[in-house]
Amino acid sequence: MNAQELRSKYVEFFKSKEHAQIQGKSLIPENDPTVLFTTAGMHPLVPYLLGEPHPAGNRLVDYQKCIRTGDIESVGDPSHLTFFEMLGNWSLGDYFKEGAIKMSFEFLTSPQWLGIPIEKLGVTVFRGDEIVPQDDESAKVWKELGIPAIRIAYRPREDNWWGPAGATGPCGPDSEMFFDIGKEPCGPDCGPGCSCGKWLEIWNDVFMQYNKTADGVYEPLARTCVDTGMGIERTVTILNGKKSVYDTEIFAPIIAAVEKASGYTYGSDPEKDKSVRIISDHVRASTFILGDPKAVTPSNVGAGYVLRRLIRRAVRHGRKLGIEDQPVENLKVLSPIAAVVVDQLKGPYPELEENRARIIGELDNEEQKFLETLQKGEHEFEKLLPNLIKDPRKIMSGRLAFKLYDTYGFPIELTDELAAEQGLTVNRAEFDEAFKKHQELSRAGSEQIFKGGLSDHSETTTKYHTATHLLQRALRLVLGDHVAQKGSNITAERMRFDFSHGAPMTPEELSKVEAIVNEQIQRDLAVTMAVMDLEAAKASGAMALFGEKYESQVKVYTIGDFSKEVCGGPHVERTGTMGTFRIQKEQSSSSGVRRIRAVLE
Ligand code: ALA
Repeated sequence: MNAQELRSKYVEFFKSKEHAQIQGKSLIPENDPTVLFTTAGMHPLVPYLLGEPHPAGNRLVDYQKCIRTGDIESVGDPSHLTFFEMLGNWSLGDYFKEGAIKMSFEFLTSPQWLGIPIEKLGVTVFRGDEIVPQDDESAKVWKELGIPAIRIAYRPREDNWWGPAGATGPCGPDSEMFFDIGKEPCGPDCGPGCSCGKWLEIWNDVFMQYNKTADGVYEPLARTCVDTGMGIERTVTILNGKKSVYDTEIFAPIIAAVEKASGYTYGSDPEKDKSVRIISDHVRASTFILGDPKAVTPSNVGAGYVLRRLIRRAVRHGRKLGIEDQPVENLKVLSPIAAVVVDQLKGPYPELEENRARIIGELDNEEQKFLETLQKGEHEFEKLLPNLIKDPRKIMSGRLAFKLYDTYGFPIELTDELAAEQGLTVNRAEFDEAFKKHQELSRAGSEQIFKGGLSDHSETTTKYHTATHLLQRALRLVLGDHVAQKGSNITAERMRFDFSHGAPMTPEELSKVEAIVNEQIQRDLAVTMAVMDLEAAKASGAMALFGEKYESQVKVYTIGDFSKEVCGGPHVERTGTMGTFRIQKEQSSSSGVRRIRAVLE
């Protein structure tokens, strides 16, 4: 079974169980400052898991593109990926443990669906702790379905608790499903969930019961929900009896493209094979980030920085395959690989085709820039060399290596390699110390950004959310109808709003916009919500996020006679509760996009 068949079967199965198919969303989360990327299928559904009604109903199914960079150093082994697709089904206050587990079991084992033999399955359930008791209810359902007690493992919070996706939000105990690849157990305690390689996780049913607040408190949810996630790549791997995600049809054409670009044949050298896998994963992830409707381009901050790191790491591993033995100006190594990804996945993700030119252009550009950086770094290294080789101990100071990294962006691994060619060793302890200090500084910086970062429904963030609607309308009144929201980001302290506009705003324009927003607040307008067809919503003049995918039924929030937008919510009931709106800063965000930072006081 290939990825496309799995995607269709999953959606078809849950539709047959009264689930409405919804659209997967952007990789860049809206209104969630606690994470850079959408990390799970549930992520765009957070407001609904916390109680907002969903226009498509209480049973939902979709496939969602996800990025997780926490394990970037493990990419290249058989199972880790930074980009992956997640299948998911949700119950919003509808079925709970029994319903979810029974459906999971049927989809996994029924010959009509995946047909996995029961003997191949093992599951884990939550062992219980001071917050939530042991999950005997789930274990009982699994037993009734025929999973023997020996293949039901009780595991602690580290293993069987999911969420929140960011710093705050919905979470709860989970029950995970594993496939036994048939290897000998690693010891007497080996069972489902053991990390020895015998048990591969394929699906996770999360029983959302709590909202973790910014104070670290677990508030019980008024309405319990189910959130599930099945990784497409891993499931295709086990269904086809493969040992590695990279051995599946998903990666075959991408690996072939890497082979073509490098002239290296996959399978000839274990170290180089790992580089091939890293390039394949990183180009796939970069293609999806660049192909997202909410454009992110390589930069030195936030999601743009992650993208830059992925691209540069791919370029570096390309050099390990000998790709650099060509003139630099001819090197456009990554974009032909990206073109293969676009061709492969433009069906389920049409945005890749729509943004093909940007994907190719940005990859070429960043690759070129990085190669120039590398050349400059190599040149600097050569300048240092006459002094370096005089050292009787043949040691290059970590301080110098750090300077190459910090000033020229020259990666330490390359300094190591160049030094080794000259019989020198880099003082890595000294480098690591300088690097750690540098990281601590930048981490302190980002914690500032994320301080109090809330994706929950605190009163303050709800007010800011309503303020983004007032601001968008006010900007259109003052600057013109070309203004459209490009993104927003809210913390308990401030809001940021990105919008299309070609020039810096004048002080007069800014004070006009501010005055209009404050006038609407003072008018104490009622905020109302209606569910309607997307087409009807657009025809009624409601603003929608350009490039975002919507369901056929959407929620439209109307603020008095002033604003109308398609939006998931939540919002204040009346604008009079919002305080005073003040713009702190207006600046460029990217080409043709301006950014306003504002506060409610
Ligand atoms: N949100 C759950 C996960 O990502 C299903 O595993």
